[in-house]
Amino acid sequence: MIFDSLGIDMKILVIGSGGREHALVWKLKSSPLVKRIYVAPGNAGIGLMAENVNIKVDDLEGLAGFAQEKGIDLTVVGPELPLTLGIVDLFEKRGLRIFGPSKKAAEIEGSKAFAKEFMRKYHIPTASFMVFDDKAAALEFARGAAYPVFIKASGLAAGKGAVMAANPDDANVIIEQMMGQRVFGGAGAKIIIEDRLAGQEVTIMAFTDGKTILPMLASQDHKQVFDGDQGPNTGGMGAYCPVPLVSDQMMQTVREQILEPVVYGLEKEGRRYKGILYAGLMLTPVGPKVIEFNCRFGDPETQVVLPLLKSDLADIFIAIVDGNLNIIEPVWKEGAAVCVVMASGGYPDKYETGIKISGIRTYRENHAYLFHAGTRRDGNNWFTAGGRVLGVTAVNQDIRSAAKAAYDTVENIRFEGAHFRRDIAYQAMK
Ligand code: AMP
Ligand code: GLY
Repeated sequence: MIFDSLGIDMKILVIGSGGREHALVWKLKSSPLVKRIYVAPGNAGIGLMAENVNIKVDDLEGLAGFAQEKGIDLTVVGPELPLTLGIVDLFEKRGLRIFGPSKKAAEIEGSKAFAKEFMRKYHIPTASFMVFDDKAAALEFARGAAYPVFIKASGLAAGKGAVMAANPDDANVIIEQMMGQRVFGGAGAKIIIEDRLAGQEVTIMAFTDGKTILPMLASQDHKQVFDGDQGPNTGGMGAYCPVPLVSDQMMQTVREQILEPVVYGLEKEGRRYKGILYAGLMLTPVGPKVIEFNCRFGDPETQVVLPLLKSDLADIFIAIVDGNLNIIEPVWKEGAAVCVVMASGGYPDKYETGIKISGIRTYRENHAYLFHAGTRRDGNNWFTAGGRVLGVTAVNQDIRSAAKAAYDTVENIRFEGAHFRRDIAYQAMK
């Protein structure tokens, strides 16, 4: 047994409240090391398999106090906000075990300007870019730029901070909104203007303790709201795993050109990275390039990656926290997973909540899991409580059969105005 210091019977605190956290809790629950799971704040679906605690994800003191009071053996952080606020530093100072990067390491997501300059320094492939903290200089540059470009707020903007500009007029409006009107608040004090990359987007997440890097299976998110990747970006309308386009050789390239230089570069700069490193990549004709890094698990990607992980997730988390990841060899299942997100009508813009949902039950016949993102329960009745409501995930022998099983399950779930994409995983079935 590797975990003499912990024994089994671990008490875990998971921070977050979406489909990603539901998938984490579901996976951790299958570990013989884990006895009890608390989730702050959790959601109604998560409440079926763990104990929800009403503490907000940015209430770092409250979370640390809870972990201390309950004798939590390991805290697992879902969203980026507490990580960029320094929850890992606070917990470690108090002698509490926590899984995730420190505040300084989490800057790889928290500051796009830092991430881009870091990539330039370590020759990590990414779109060419300029950083501006002065609006006049940004506007001046925009006059002569080669279009299209992407303009991005440097700070956290809930996934909405990247906008394409097709011409200088677009760029003027976007720069004015970000730097002048501050539509993303302080996140827009600095902006990045970068070249547009063309190709398919894939997600590669890796477990790392700062020394060993273990990439997970590649997955693909569907960010746009409508079929055929049309309409505005959302928090993710579905995902699949693995991605046939990502060969072993490409994975090796990503490891050598991207994952290793990031993790070792951060180490060199005194920002040891422990946790999940999420690389959002564009597979361009000249090779994979980084669109963004995240300092945490992706959502909905986690809902398709974890169901294919055979190994014990608690085991991996502990090895990372202890700096022993070299002893772990994760084992993956054969087959594929597809997640279809059922969203409220109107999402990602205005939508109603409190709408009755029918069909929430266990779907063993379809190898399906319902990961809840925004639901509320009142006795046996379920209601919508957010934009993204459910991640309907199925695992099967290949992408096609997994997609069929996910969509067969979706057919059983009804709520007024329900919206979902009908083409999740289409890129893998072409
Ligand atoms: P980000 O907030 O940086 O992850 O960007 C959000 C989304 O915008 C990405 O998932 C891409 O679909 C798109 N995007 C961002 N930057 C670029 C780029 N340089 N070229 C093409 N698409 C991009
Ligand atoms: N699926 C995109 C993200 O988690 O940021």
